[in-house]
Amino acid sequence: MTKQARIRQTILDIPASRIRAVYNAGHRIEGMIPLWAGEGDEPTPDFIRDAAAAALARGETYYTPNRGILPLREAIRDYLKRAYRVDTPLDRIVATASGMSALMITLQCLLEKGDSAAVIGPIWPNGCEAIRALGAEVRDVYLQQSEDGRWVLDLQRLFDACDETTRLIMLNSPGNPTGWVASEAELRAILDFARARGIWLLSDEVYGRIVYGEARAPGRNHAPSYYTLAEPDDAVVIVNSFSKSWSMTGWRLGWVVTRPDLADAIEKMTEFNVSCSNAFAQWGAVTALNEGDAYVDGLVERYSRAADLVYQALAPLPRVRLGKPQGAFYAFFALDGLQDSLQFCLDLLPKAKVGLAPGVAFGPAGEGRIRLCYAASLPKLSQALERLVPHLK
Ligand SMILES: Cc1ncc(COP(=O)(O)O)c(C=O)c1O
Repeated sequence: MTKQARIRQTILDIPASRIRAVYNAGHRIEGMIPLWAGEGDEPTPDFIRDAAAAALARGETYYTPNRGILPLREAIRDYLKRAYRVDTPLDRIVATASGMSALMITLQCLLEKGDSAAVIGPIWPNGCEAIRALGAEVRDVYLQQSEDGRWVLDLQRLFDACDETTRLIMLNSPGNPTGWVASEAELRAILDFARARGIWLLSDEVYGRIVYGEARAPGRNHAPSYYTLAEPDDAVVIVNSFSKSWSMTGWRLGWVVTRPDLADAIEKMTEFNVSCSNAFAQWGAVTALNEGDAYVDGLVERYSRAADLVYQALAPLPRVRLGKPQGAFYAFFALDGLQDSLQFCLDLLPKAKVGLAPGVAFGPAGEGRIRLCYAASLPKLSQALERLVPHLK
């Protein structure tokens, strides 16, 4: 007699990505304009690709330190000095194999079964599923959308969601999918609360540079950030990624800045997750940071124009509720009367040849909404909007 070998129930209970469901149904349709994923349609710029290709050609094909190669950690330090005007000692920096890997390994270091994490949502689902995969509980604290479409955080509701089981608060500003950008005052209030309670703050700042107008930190070209607000001994983890600001989604590289003792734990756990990131990709990332400031500025400028384009096309439609995007590169709009966002996105594929992400992919509070990623080049985006608008009327 054989006995059935089992998969952990916790993992079986995690739903498959509903963005993938739309992608799987639509990616082979000819002429499709895909706006479902969090990436643009232009490849990583040549100067970064050339640096990685040169590293590959000279034989950078070995394992690297779990914290990443030293030139990369130095480049991250120098970048943070230029962009955020902060001094970050190297013992606080870990280069990781993607923002997602940084999130997962950080959570592995901080959470165990029975713990809870308060999460400001709607939020990109992967961080929440990572928390659940570890057997911990997600306590969703949803932003509210005001009549003019702005996203608003109720700090008291966040604090009320925390109790003695709560080990961390996770937030993502600028936010995917909402485009919400926390103010400095909000970030300070959350930090004060976390300090008083002795809990961690996991701040996902992968869109930290993609921020528009008044949502920027005063006098800066970045969003309000714990890079500038946290003290070195605060229990704060800042996660970053090369994917968004340098158009390097396929490279799988990111970084973490945190307290040195947690940085050591992340280094240790990196061994048991990925045993270091790709060597020649890391060399490309060194060049991205050291020579990429103008590229990032240009990209943000383009995303800002794209945000305007989307807002002008969609916000006037009577069924649509959309605030002016403040950051990241998504419009997460409510569509009056929409009951099943997944079905709507699937139906749209053959009809409009535009691929969108269903709101329900971001949790039950996302139902009735659609996420459109506006990182595509402007002509493509205009074409997508022309095709889409008749279906939103
Ligand atoms: C909010 C947020 N955090 C983290 C990531 C992960 O980025 P990556 O794993 O590509 O570095 C993404 C990607 O979409 C994201 O939207």
